[in-house]
Amino acid sequence: MSKDSRDRSVAKKLYIKTYGCQMNVYDSTRMADVLAPLGYVPADAPEDADMVILNTCHIREKAAEKVFSELGRLRPLKALRSEQGERMILAVAGCTAQAEGAEIVARAPYVDIVLGPQTYHRLPEMVAQAARAGGYVLDTDFPAEAKFDFLPDAATPQGISAFLSVQEGCDKFCTFCVVPYTRGAEFSRPGAAIVAEARRLVAHGAREITLLGQNVNAYRGAAVDGEARWGLGRLIRALAEIEGLLRLRYTTSHPRDVDDALISAHRDVPQLMPFLHLPVQSGSDRVLHAMNRRHTADDYRRIIERLRGARGDMAFSSDFIVGFPGESDADFSRTLDLVREIGYAQAFSFKYSPRPGTPAALMPRQVPEDVKAERLAALQALLTEQQQHFNAASLGREVPVLFEKRGRHPGQLVGRSPYLQAVHAAAPEHLVGTLAPVRLVRVERNSLAGELMIEGDEVLA
Ligand code: 5AD
Ligand code: SF4
Repeated sequence: MSKDSRDRSVAKKLYIKTYGCQMNVYDSTRMADVLAPLGYVPADAPEDADMVILNTCHIREKAAEKVFSELGRLRPLKALRSEQGERMILAVAGCTAQAEGAEIVARAPYVDIVLGPQTYHRLPEMVAQAARAGGYVLDTDFPAEAKFDFLPDAATPQGISAFLSVQEGCDKFCTFCVVPYTRGAEFSRPGAAIVAEARRLVAHGAREITLLGQNVNAYRGAAVDGEARWGLGRLIRALAEIEGLLRLRYTTSHPRDVDDALISAHRDVPQLMPFLHLPVQSGSDRVLHAMNRRHTADDYRRIIERLRGARGDMAFSSDFIVGFPGESDADFSRTLDLVREIGYAQAFSFKYSPRPGTPAALMPRQVPEDVKAERLAALQALLTEQQQHFNAASLGREVPVLFEKRGRHPGQLVGRSPYLQAVHAAAPEHLVGTLAPVRLVRVERNSLAGELMIEGDEVLA
């Protein structure tokens, strides 16, 4: 065996393409962890890879369509490798795999493995099976065993800002949403496992951790010591004790699950950033009811008020859906009213997209596409104006920036403000991974320009 081919058989290359939410980004790192003992190391491009995983999203129709077009692009690549006598394993993971597994193997029979978000701890078995047999392996169970009990310790380095999954699944069943079907029932990881993983992330250089869950503030995990269960507020307090962990965030939250302990964590824990993504979806109670959101617009207003009471510098982001079935002009204008009242630092907004199998897809009075487009344009104009206003208001201020890496220009570093604004400034490289005071001086297209307010050898933390 030549050295070259021996190397190839030892170090196999893995390329993972991730779509959708941060939970998928985290899952992709864990799939890499599971496959590492089999000899898989990261590839830079699918062309170099022995295995390609598409970690997919199913939240809106467009997200699901992307998977099939990407598979179409990968097909000739796989054929080429097979002409060269090599095998490329093609796997589709994530929520589209969960929801449309059978359709994927029917439409793309060259796919080797289809697996849902709850079975990736079984990937080594699936790879072995795919290598042995022809045909495909389809595993979209919701297994009785908890995936996290079977995963190796998280090992893939994530850099200065890391994700940590604390909760999965959703029991809310908003009528537009596929998540309860693709991710399954709510499950919280035990506090001890989360604290241990956070410590490992910090030991590998993470300075900021974003706690992830489809419904992260519904977290109710086994407590570390004697106490019955921890909610998210308690978990945050425990994580804030980790030396070297400078910032904590969490996403995505549901208004119904914002409790007193979480609000007081915002008041008391300085590492917890004063920026919260709290989706409201609509400002109309009628629509919120039809969405099965289980909160009113006023409930939401009160929660925002309480959070602002706990920490005066809180800023908010949200998700909105326009054109939900039955949404009238009056309903939509209530959404605009709510946005004007709250004043968002940033937000995401979407046209309602009927998802097969969800109750709203079958509701009467679906809103025509052109009305959805008009409403979306109006909402986005307002949200963009608010974001610009928020950014402009931060000019002249000195804010702590957590530098993450080199910027585009020599001598420049980039990082994030407490409000997740991307900031770049001239700064020495040893400030990567530290919090440094930066005066914000200019709004640019996708970031803010700042000036470092210390000499290079002083560091905040
Ligand atoms: N159509 C449009 N937007 C949706 N979202 C979830 N499901 C749909 C759908 N069927 C949006 C919601 C959610 C975000 C992640 O995606 O706003 O908060
Ligand atoms: Fe989907 Fe609603 Fe659950 Fe969020 S809370 S994941 S929108 S069902």
